[in-house]
Amino acid sequence: MEKTHKNSKVKFFNEQDIPLEMHKVRVVQKLNLLPIEERKKAMEEAGFNTFLLQNKDVFLDMLTDSGTNAMSDNQVAAMMVADDSYAGSFSYSKLEKAIKDVFNQKYFLPVHQGRAAEHIISQVFIPKGNIVVTNYHFTTTKAHIELVGGVVYEAYRDEALNIKSDHPFKGNIDTDKLEAVIKQYGAEKIAFIRFEAGTNLIGGQPFSMQNMKDVWQISRKHGIKVLMDTSLINENLYFIKTREKGYENLTIKEILHEMMSYTDFSYFSGRKVSCTRGGGICTNDREIYMKMRDLVPLFEGFLTYGGMSVREIEAMAVGLYETLDMDVISQSPGFIKYAVDSFVEKGVPVVTPAGGLGCHLDARGFIPHVPQSEYPAGALAAALYIASGVRGMERGSISSVRDENGNDIPADVELLRLAFPRRVFTLSQVKYMEDRVNWLYENRNLIGGLEWIEEPPVLRFFVGKLKAKTNWPDKLAEKFRNDFGDSL
Ligand code: F0G
Repeated sequence: MEKTHKNSKVKFFNEQDIPLEMHKVRVVQKLNLLPIEERKKAMEEAGFNTFLLQNKDVFLDMLTDSGTNAMSDNQVAAMMVADDSYAGSFSYSKLEKAIKDVFNQKYFLPVHQGRAAEHIISQVFIPKGNIVVTNYHFTTTKAHIELVGGVVYEAYRDEALNIKSDHPFKGNIDTDKLEAVIKQYGAEKIAFIRFEAGTNLIGGQPFSMQNMKDVWQISRKHGIKVLMDTSLINENLYFIKTREKGYENLTIKEILHEMMSYTDFSYFSGRKVSCTRGGGICTNDREIYMKMRDLVPLFEGFLTYGGMSVREIEAMAVGLYETLDMDVISQSPGFIKYAVDSFVEKGVPVVTPAGGLGCHLDARGFIPHVPQSEYPAGALAAALYIASGVRGMERGSISSVRDENGNDIPADVELLRLAFPRRVFTLSQVKYMEDRVNWLYENRNLIGGLEWIEEPPVLRFFVGKLKAKTNWPDKLAEKFRNDFGDSL
C-alpha cells in the first residue's frame, strides 16, 4: 500500500519535466491513420460530428475517457474467475467489500453506468420544481434532473470559467451563491447540493477539501443533503494531495475517506473511475439506501449485478483499489500537464491550469473569427480530425440546448476536449497530437464555421449532423498537402 512520503514523480537528469509511465504495455491494438483526403471525406460523411466517425477512420481516439481506459493485468485476471449467479454472486461480494474499503461506505447499489445512477437519484430525490445546486452541470446529469421537473442552479465561482487561470481549485462551489439561493427559495426547495469531482465541462477541474468542509457546514445548518459525483474522483484526489496545503502527507485513502465524510451519498460512472463498464450509488445512510433500493431491480437488474456483467464487477472491484495508488492516478494528470504546458509555451489557447480528464483547447481564442452561432468548438473538432485523425469532443454550444423560443443558448465556454483515456497513449502519440494542433493554430484563419443539417431535439450533440458553411475543409486539406508533402 502507498507510503506517505511517496510523491510518484521521477526527476530527469536533464531537468525536463517528462511524465513517466509507471506501467508497461502487454496488449496492443493496431491503429490506422488515413491520408488527409480520406479523413476529410470521413468527416463530411459524419456530418462534422466526431461522435459519428467510425473508429476505423480514427488515429488517436481522444473523444472520451469513458469506457476507453486500459485495464491492468490484475483486472483482466479477475475477470476470468467471475461468479455468474444471478443472485448472491461472489463477485458482487468482492465489489461490496471494495466499496467499504475504498470509499468507506456501507451501502451500495450497482447500476449499468453513471447516468443510470443519475436517473434513480433524480426519480427519488427531486420533487417537481425543486432545485439542485451544483458546482457545474454535466450533460446527462442535467437531462435527468430536468426530466423529473427539477431545476439546475450552478453555484460555480467566477474563476471557473476563466480560460487562463492559475487557480488550483476551479471546481469549487461559491458558498455565497449557495447561501443566497437557499435564502431565496428556502432550504425545503433544494433537493440536494451536488459536487462533481474533476468538474468535467469546465475542463476537468477539481474542488478542494476546504470547499467541501465549508459546504458541508452550510448543508448541516439548513438540513440539505450533499451528493458527490465521484466519476472523476481519481484526479480530484491527486490534485488535493498535490495542491492543497495540509494534504501532501496523507494517503489517498485518508483523503478519500475524509471527502466521503462530507457527503450523504455519492455515485459514479465505473467507465471512468475503475476503468470498467458499470456504475453505482454509495451511502452510509440506510434511509437513503432504502428509498432507492427497489428501483434497481426495476430499471437495472437484480441487486447483485444492477445491469453489469459479472466480469466487469470483478474488474471494478480491483480497479477501485487501484484508485488508491498514486502511480495509477498521477498518470493522466502528468500527461495532460505535459500537453497543456507545451501549448501555453506556443501561445495556443488552452484551459489552465491543467486539470484531469483531458486537455481542453479554447475554441473562441483559437478561431475568434468564427462566431458562436457557427459553433467554433465543433468546427475546431472537425478541423483537428481532418488535420490529424485525432478525434476530440465538442464541448460548447452544440452540446448546449435551445430555449423555448427555439434560440440557441450559447455555452459559457467553447472547448475542444482532447480526452486522455487512462494508461492508453504513449508520449510520442501525445507529441503527434501537439504537433498537429500547433500546425492548425498556424493555419487557423483557414478554419470556418458550421451549420445544422439534422438537429435532434434532445442531446443533439450525440447524433446531430452539420456541414461546413464554406469550402474551408478543402482549403485546409490543400494547405496540409503543401506543407507536409506525402506524409499521412
Ligand atoms: N458524471 C460525470 C462527471 C461524467 O463525466 C459522466 C460521463 C457521467 C456522470 C455519466 O456517466 O457515461 O457512465 O453514464 N461522461 C462521459 C464523458 C460520457 O465523455 O465525459 P456514464
